[in-house]
Amino acid sequence: MNNSLYKAIRPAIFKIDPETAHGMTIKALKKGAIRACKIVRSERLGQNMFGHHFPNPIGLSAGFDKNAEVVAPVLRLGFGFTEAGTVTPKQQDGNPRPRIFRDPTHDAVINRMGFPNGGMELFKANIKDFLNTPDRPKGIVGINIGMNKTQTEPAKDYCALIQDLAPFADYLTVNISSPNTPGLRDLQQKDVLLALLEKMMQIRAITCPDNAPALLVKLAPDLTGDQQKELAETLLEAKVDGVILSNTTLDRPKTLPDNFRSQTGGLSGAPVRDKSTAIIGNFYRLTGGKLPIIGVGGISSAQHAYDKIKAGASLVQLYTGMIYEGPNIANTINADLLKLLDRDGYTHISEAIGTDIA
Ligand code: FNR
Repeated sequence: MNNSLYKAIRPAIFKIDPETAHGMTIKALKKGAIRACKIVRSERLGQNMFGHHFPNPIGLSAGFDKNAEVVAPVLRLGFGFTEAGTVTPKQQDGNPRPRIFRDPTHDAVINRMGFPNGGMELFKANIKDFLNTPDRPKGIVGINIGMNKTQTEPAKDYCALIQDLAPFADYLTVNISSPNTPGLRDLQQKDVLLALLEKMMQIRAITCPDNAPALLVKLAPDLTGDQQKELAETLLEAKVDGVILSNTTLDRPKTLPDNFRSQTGGLSGAPVRDKSTAIIGNFYRLTGGKLPIIGVGGISSAQHAYDKIKAGASLVQLYTGMIYEGPNIANTINADLLKLLDRDGYTHISEAIGTDIA
C-alpha cells in the first residue's frame, strides 16, 4: 500500500476506535493483506550490531506486536527490525478500554494500555512459528520484556522471561519505562537497577552460555539531567549492550486539545520528538558514544530519523508514525535517508552517527 492510498483511506480508519483499528491491522497483516510497495535495500543502510546484521536502521518499536503474532509480515513491510512485546510472564488484560487516543491535529497518541498480552508461553509459540517460517524474511527480532501488574518482586518476572525467551531473541529489551504499570518507572533508580541488571545478566549467561542475545534497557524521556547522568553511569557499569531512548512521555504540551491532553497515559508521536532527540544527544555525550543507542519518539520522516542518528542513535524505531503515515513508512524513510546521505557526502549511514554532538 503506497502512502497516498493510505492517506486516502485514513479518514475511514480514524472513524474506528484506535484499538479496534489496531486489531484489524494485526488480522490483515496475518492474512498478508497489507503489503509494502518496493522494499528499499542498500548496503549503505546496513549495520552489524549486537552480533547481527540489521539490513536498515528503521525498526518497529514495542507495543505494536505485543504477542509476536506478525513478526514476518512486519519485516516484509521493509523494516530492518521489529521489537515484539512488551510480554509479561502471565497473561493479563491491561487497563479497561478505551485506552488508546489519537490526536490527528498533532500526529499524537496517548495510551494507557498497561501491558495487555497473552503471556510468555503464547509469545514463545508465536516466535517459534516465525522461526519456522519457510520463506522467513531478513531482519532482526527484539523481544521487549516487562513485569506483570501484580508482581511485587520485579526481578522474578524479568528473570523468568529471560530464561524462557532469550534463546529466541536477537536482542532483549528490559522495559522499565512504561508509565502504565504502577512502580515500573521506579526501577530507573541506580541501586535498584544495578541489582536488577546483575540478576538478569546472570540468568542470561546461564540460559545462553554460547550465544547470549544483547540486553538493552528502555528508558523514559521524563528524566532530569541528574537522573540521566546517574543512569548513563549505571548502564555503563552494568555493561548492558545498549539503551533505547525513549518510551512515551507524561508531558502534556498546552497546545494539545483539552479533551486529548486530559487523558491519562503516555504521549507519543510528534509532541515527544524533540524531547527524545535531546535525551539521545545527552546520553551519547554522557557515555562518550560507547553505549549503542536506539532512538525512538516522533519519527515519521527521514529527517526525523536522521536527526536522531546525528544526535547519537545507531538505529531508530517508530510506532505512532506508522499510524499517521501508513505501512510503507519504513521504505519511504529509507529511500529519503539515502538522499540525505548523498546530500551530506556520507557513503554509509554509520558515518552520520553522533555528528551533531560536540
Ligand atoms: C507504546 N509503546 C510501548 N513501549 C514499550 O516498551 N512497550 C509497550 O508495550 C508499548 N506499548 C505501546 C502502545 C502504544 C499504543 C503506543 C503508541 C506506544 C511505546 C513505543 O514503543 C515508543 O517508545 C513510543 O511510542 C515513542 O515512539 P513513537 O510512537 O512516537 O514513534
